[in-house]
Amino acid sequence: MARFAQEGGLFTECMDFHKLVQVRDSCRKYDTRPVEKEKIDRILEACRLAPSACNSQPWKFVVVDEPGLRDQLAGTTVGPMLKFNRFCLQAPVMVALVAEPPSWLSKIGGKVKDKDFYLMDIGIVAEHLCLQAAELGLGSCMIGWFDEKKARQLLHIPSGKRIPLMISLGYPASDKQRKKIRKPMSEMVSYNRY
Ligand SMILES: Cc1cc2nc3c(=O)[nH]c(=O)nc-3n(C[C@H](O)[C@H](O)[C@H](O)COP(=O)(O)O)c2cc1C
Repeated sequence: MARFAQEGGLFTECMDFHKLVQVRDSCRKYDTRPVEKEKIDRILEACRLAPSACNSQPWKFVVVDEPGLRDQLAGTTVGPMLKFNRFCLQAPVMVALVAEPPSWLSKIGGKVKDKDFYLMDIGIVAEHLCLQAAELGLGSCMIGWFDEKKARQLLHIPSGKRIPLMISLGYPASDKQRKKIRKPMSEMVSYNRY
């Protein structure tokens, strides 16, 4: 198997892809251990290489690791109706995925085909982030439920730009793997007709 050599032992063996998709899950309990900058850089590089409609790359990543700001940002995921995201308060890093205007070609294509290509792009890049994090031994969780207005203010995101997702990131507090709950294959696959 390929090795990421000469990188100070932070990067070990590449994980087999099928194993990687089994290992990745939504991590909702984090260790206090900080995440190494080299690992964040590698995750961001995996994001940079993600595909997008018309190669439009309609995203920006705001990585929040400064403790005070991170607490405030994590706080936007918690509220009277948002108790289930309290675990974000423990995450050493939060990443806000900001949707940037797609290229004109992607925009026109989306209009003609009545499809929100840019949201598909954001979903794909989010999964690149989470899979690369898992491969590096990190836990992550995509967060769709948060106070977007507050988050935009905290991060000085220009008005009109949206944050479709945030992602919490850090070392998992436990190695224990949750059982995957998924529909059976027979409910989601057919061959040659619907
Ligand atoms: C677009 C999106 C938004 C999500 N938002 C949240 C969220 O706000 N809070 C949370 O705890 N999990 C959130 N999740 C994680 C899902 O609940 C999780 O992926 C799903 O239950 C499958 O579990 P697994 O990721 O552990 O395999 C989100 C996932 C996606 C793809």
